[in-house]
Amino acid sequence: MTTTILVAGATGDLGQRIVRELLQHDVRLRVLTRPGSATAAALFGDDERIDIVTASYADHKALTAAVSGVDVVVSAVSGIRPVIVDAQRALLKATVAAGVPRFIPSDYSADYRQIAPDSNRNFELRREFAAEVDAAPVHATSILNGMFTDLLTDEAPMILFGRRRVLFWSSADQVLDFTTKDDAARVTALAALDNDAPRVIEVAGAQVSARDVALTMTELTGTPFKLQWAGTTGTLSAMSKIGRKLSKNPNETFPAWQGMQYFVSMFSGQAQLRHVDNDRYGPHVWTTVRDVLHAHLAGQKAS
Ligand SMILES: NC(=O)c1ccc[n+]([C@@H]2O[C@H](COP(=O)([O-])OP(=O)(O)OC[C@H]3O[C@@H](n4cnc5c(N)ncnc54)[C@H](OP(=O)(O)O)[C@@H]3O)[C@@H](O)[C@H]2O)c1
Repeated sequence: MTTTILVAGATGDLGQRIVRELLQHDVRLRVLTRPGSATAAALFGDDERIDIVTASYADHKALTAAVSGVDVVVSAVSGIRPVIVDAQRALLKATVAAGVPRFIPSDYSADYRQIAPDSNRNFELRREFAAEVDAAPVHATSILNGMFTDLLTDEAPMILFGRRRVLFWSSADQVLDFTTKDDAARVTALAALDNDAPRVIEVAGAQVSARDVALTMTELTGTPFKLQWAGTTGTLSAMSKIGRKLSKNPNETFPAWQGMQYFVSMFSGQAQLRHVDNDRYGPHVWTTVRDVLHAHLAGQKAS
């Protein structure tokens, strides 16, 4: 039977990838977008398997009508409190009011459940919302995938490509979880179609330490990449607090100080995935850290 799935935040980076993955299956899609945005129409307007529904997260009646009749609501919205807690709370409320049986919140992160209080703003917003999800009469599934591997060549400054260094905090041997955006999107799509999905699905395309990353870079480039101790997770946490205090825009989703908090959670081991189940949806060739770095270096050579 065709499954009908609503994707909120489908116009975003991950959301588009989730839609692409879902379309490989027998599905009918509903894309929820906010009033005033033309992006959904431009992206999905030509696809007859996709319906675009527009509703404000502040309009409970419109939101309930938008989700009404679907089998699963998948959220891929992004932001801080007004989005991760407030907008998703409204979406969850509409999901329950409409009698939709399943809900996937916008988690797609490392394991935020055990982190220390006041150590990672974005994770704590997820944890706060997860408590509301747990209390709601809905079958919920969170996807925990560690850091997006794609960020290693972009926003996450752990590899200093020019200086041939790999930074670490506290321990070069701490295991770090990475999954590419595409692999996370694939798992999300399969979880949306899986009526037996558990409350949390943990996946990791790669589980590597900073030492492994340095070795990989050395092998791929043929020149030594050295490990560089950048301090303890305690000093990094203190730096992130200073960065947060000095920050001019408290509403940014991923400011530099939040990136520091992400590394604190990862390098302290607090956000490490403990129940990775990569085989839940059968054999799959996961894109590794080596694959991503290899592609990045090949791209640099070609340009
Ligand atoms: N693990 C990692 O390393 C990692 C890295 C990056 C992101 N993530 C997570 O992945 C998820 C998706 O992130 P992304 O980068 O794909 O996001 P994105 O590209 O910024 O897009 C998210 C979508 O959210 C919707 N949105 C934005 N502001 C909103 C608001 N105020 N209220 C309701 N909806 C709003 C928008 O859709 P409409 O305009 O159509 O409504 C937007 O297209 C988030 O949970 C994010 O934190 C994880």
